[in-house]
Amino acid sequence: MIAARNDGSPWEARITELMGRMTLRDKVGQMTQLAINVLGRGPRLYDSDTPFRFDGQMLARVFDEYRVGSILTAPNNTALTPGEWHRIIAEIQQRSMQSLGIPCLYGVDSIHGATYVRGATFFPQQINLAATFDCGVAAASAECCAREMRSCGLPWNFSPVLDLGRMPLWPRFWETFGEDPYLASRMGCALVGGYQGDDRERLPGTRVAACLKHFVGYGSPASGKDRTPAAVAPCELEEKHLRPFREAVAVGALSVMVNSGILNGIPCHMNRGLITGTLKEGMHFDGVVVTDWLDIANLCERDRVAADLRQAVKLAVNAGIDLAMVPYDLQFCRDLVELVEAGDVPMERIDDAVRRILRLKFRLGLFDAPSATDGVWLPEFREHAAVARRAAAESIVLLKNEGGLLPLDPGRSLLVAGPNADSKRTLNGGWTLSWQGETTDGMEQNGSTVLEAFGKRVLRLFHAPGVAYSPGGNGSGEVELDQTELLGMARTADAVLVCVGENSYTEKPGDTEDLALSEAQQRLVERISRVNRNIILVLNEGRPRLIGRIEPLVRAALWIGLPGSYGAEALADVVFGRISPSGRLPFTYPKYPHSLICHDFKHCERATGMDGAYDYSSRLSIQYPFGHGLGYTTFEYACFRASARSISPEESIRFSVEVTNRGDREAEEVVLLFISDRVASLPPDNRRLQGFRRIRLAAGQTAGVSFEVEASRLAFADGCGRFIVEEGEFVACIAGHTLSFEVTRTATIEQ
Ligand code: BGC
Repeated sequence: MIAARNDGSPWEARITELMGRMTLRDKVGQMTQLAINVLGRGPRLYDSDTPFRFDGQMLARVFDEYRVGSILTAPNNTALTPGEWHRIIAEIQQRSMQSLGIPCLYGVDSIHGATYVRGATFFPQQINLAATFDCGVAAASAECCAREMRSCGLPWNFSPVLDLGRMPLWPRFWETFGEDPYLASRMGCALVGGYQGDDRERLPGTRVAACLKHFVGYGSPASGKDRTPAAVAPCELEEKHLRPFREAVAVGALSVMVNSGILNGIPCHMNRGLITGTLKEGMHFDGVVVTDWLDIANLCERDRVAADLRQAVKLAVNAGIDLAMVPYDLQFCRDLVELVEAGDVPMERIDDAVRRILRLKFRLGLFDAPSATDGVWLPEFREHAAVARRAAAESIVLLKNEGGLLPLDPGRSLLVAGPNADSKRTLNGGWTLSWQGETTDGMEQNGSTVLEAFGKRVLRLFHAPGVAYSPGGNGSGEVELDQTELLGMARTADAVLVCVGENSYTEKPGDTEDLALSEAQQRLVERISRVNRNIILVLNEGRPRLIGRIEPLVRAALWIGLPGSYGAEALADVVFGRISPSGRLPFTYPKYPHSLICHDFKHCERATGMDGAYDYSSRLSIQYPFGHGLGYTTFEYACFRASARSISPEESIRFSVEVTNRGDREAEEVVLLFISDRVASLPPDNRRLQGFRRIRLAAGQTAGVSFEVEASRLAFADGCGRFIVEEGEFVACIAGHTLSFEVTRTATIEQ
């Protein structure tokens, strides 16, 4: 991919020519994004009639009068057919081209498939893609999603989420690639490549623009609740949270969305240092910076740093915002025109924003083909299901398998229980056919529920949920059902598959007060365990709900996260042994509510005490570590070697290891390389992930795996804006095998 350091994209002359013909009002209109409902006929601004019908007066106002440049999301937050999308986009583009000759930029959140398209393929959510440790399958999912979006005329995707999943209470934890910055960076770049292809100046009609979000620190609210303040130390921000953004910008991501919340005391939408300094100047980002939903208004109405909307607009636009996701009214346009006329917002700022927006429209080819080229849902989209299923299978993590209970013989009798057993909604999570995913069970025709998938393979299958989720958008309500019959069946079944976890949610409605798995679900497992110990616990959840109380009661446990519509078939493949599980946890699974930690902790978290009369040792209690994941075979690691004993900061070092499949069947294995600084001028992390590779080995087969690591990648942030790699000893580790090497000199590393 071409780097984002842009010394002039091929479109600059055309943009200059176009801008020369635009008035201030035209330019401000381009900087405005409205929700589609604003254009629809209906009782309120927030809702439209079904089926969606344009309001002629609003169309004229929005496009002819205000020259609005961007529209987002689906009418009434509900999925449409590809045909309906085609009709809507065609009308919008026709109006847009007719008024100013500039196409409209339509954006949606297709975060694991084309969210708002009926019949779309739903892939595993990001937390699952991370668990595959397979950038290839992640990129393939994104590519399929882009094809499906673009065939509906949707060119801009608010994805990927590059916030780190380091706060498990956060209701968008599952939208992340987990806690590790290296994994998130690699996966983020894979998704950008999958969405955009490899020519960021001329995207073909099958690709969409990515949007990295939410810049930055959004995923680490101290309270765990969505859109509440985050405090992240400067070195941690530089080294961990900014890294995925830096790398995804470097591979050419075309847009970035700003964190809705407050970071280190400052609302991100007014943070000029962050948006203009760090992102646009520091990272040489030449794409579009879009606000999050209503977040300029939030500067006055929520965060109270502005007395009125006009002051909020001034703060945000001067901070470096290019496009305002307003999304309901046109006051932003009026305010911004006045601010420029009064000299409170410089014209150069407007020109910078508009240039970026037009550049994106040119890059997307929208001037030549504003709507979908064909508008046809192609038969080959059916093949996307195979990608989704493979990704789901690779993401399933076998957490525990006492006495080899798994794989299960399909000839045995099986009771399937739990509130997640018969739901496509829970397999997919939020952003599926609607924002909260509450319509999935009625609307999703593809894939199957766990019950349906297992029903195809087991002759003697019984079902009783025991606990059910309350219907509706907010995923948290549950009811305990009569369990008499269930316990009767559990007594006689050979094994019980208990599908627990969470209902779908995202953002604020997903806030939780308690990370523990619900009391009703824990009680269900306890009751079943009194009559049958052959429990296979299936964790279908968006964040790691605590299971410390019930885990000792089950013989096998599988984390399936949010594997998408084909997750149930993939789960059946794993449970019945068609596939050996190979997913690895992309986060540290906590055991206690107040013992939340990530794998790259500081040594004081695990100190073994200090000399003297007092006990200062630290306790580290976790349920399962980052990278944990069992399979049905054993892999043996040997001959771990490094290409050198010492390297300079300009050199790289190659690590190699031999991996042998000691089992009696083919299986896949994820090889993880960690490196840690033995001593540094600031406390080093316990360890840092520096490489991963997924391999497939036949029974008895040995393969060599090697990793090339540049010394510059060992650098850490010094908290003063520099990255340094320091001379001294480093320890590399693969599967418990360690070796040390030396860096010969200290050096500052350019980012
Ligand atoms: C979310 C964003 C999303 C936007 C547009 C916001 O509420 O925070 O992630 O892209 O809505 O739908």
